[in-house]
Amino acid sequence: MIRLENIQRRYASDEVETTALSDIDLHVAQGEFLAIMGPSGCGKSTLLNILGTVDRPSAGRYMFGDRDLARLDEAALARLRSETLGFVFQSFNLIDELTIQENVELGLAYRKDKSGDRRQRVAAAMDRVGISHRAKHYPHQLSGGQQQRAAIARAIVGDPSLILADEPTGNLDTENGAQVMNILESLNAEGATIIMVTHSPSHADAAQRRIDMLDGRIVASVARAI
Ligand SMILES: Nc1ncnc2c1ncn2[C@@H]1O[C@H](COP(=O)(O)OP(=O)(O)OP(=O)(O)O)[C@@H](O)[C@H]1O
Ligand SMILES: [Mg+2]
Repeated sequence: MIRLENIQRRYASDEVETTALSDIDLHVAQGEFLAIMGPSGCGKSTLLNILGTVDRPSAGRYMFGDRDLARLDEAALARLRSETLGFVFQSFNLIDELTIQENVELGLAYRKDKSGDRRQRVAAAMDRVGISHRAKHYPHQLSGGQQQRAAIARAIVGDPSLILADEPTGNLDTENGAQVMNILESLNAEGATIIMVTHSPSHADAAQRRIDMLDGRIVASVARAI
């Protein structure tokens, strides 16, 4: 489904050049659940942002299916994101002025679904993560775990085939973290491909494969023993 070849990402400023990613080769199969681990600053979020097409590599090739993403313009990438990708951020990124229901509906922003279908999709996504009873509330009225589940609802409302999650359990206590992992595992069981950054070895164990990063490189790839 995804093939990265020799991906580099450099940040240049006047004084210093930072290499956030070097020599990244990665193949992710459709339906796979992949965990990414590594110390702070090693490039995990940079890699996820490139996978999610919100950032572009400085060099290298990103193939999505049979499409070379470097050849797509912004409009085509925006369409790919809205039809195929779901993002879950560490910091939830919910919009404070919108209700939970409205936040979830943002996940359908670029789609031309009929309004009845939209309502149904939003209701189903909220139901899926157990926040329907908070639909009319605002983010600050929810617990951290509920906010993260709302963010997951927004990510999955468009039925994405690839879910990218950047430390989705990073700000949660054990129980809420376990709930989020259950949701991700069941989405994966239904066929979604999942790429998740995590600092938790036990959460990484939910994945079929784990890659370890260090200083912008992939230093190990470990398949889970079955
Ligand atoms: N916009 C930017 N300009 C310059 N350097 C950046 C920028 N964004 C990230 N970096 C650098 O790239 C490197 C990788 O950052 P990244 O956010 O990918 O790390 P991370 O592995 O996600 O860390 P964490 O676990 O703390 O979230 C870091 O050295 C960071 O300082
Ligand atoms: Mg990060």
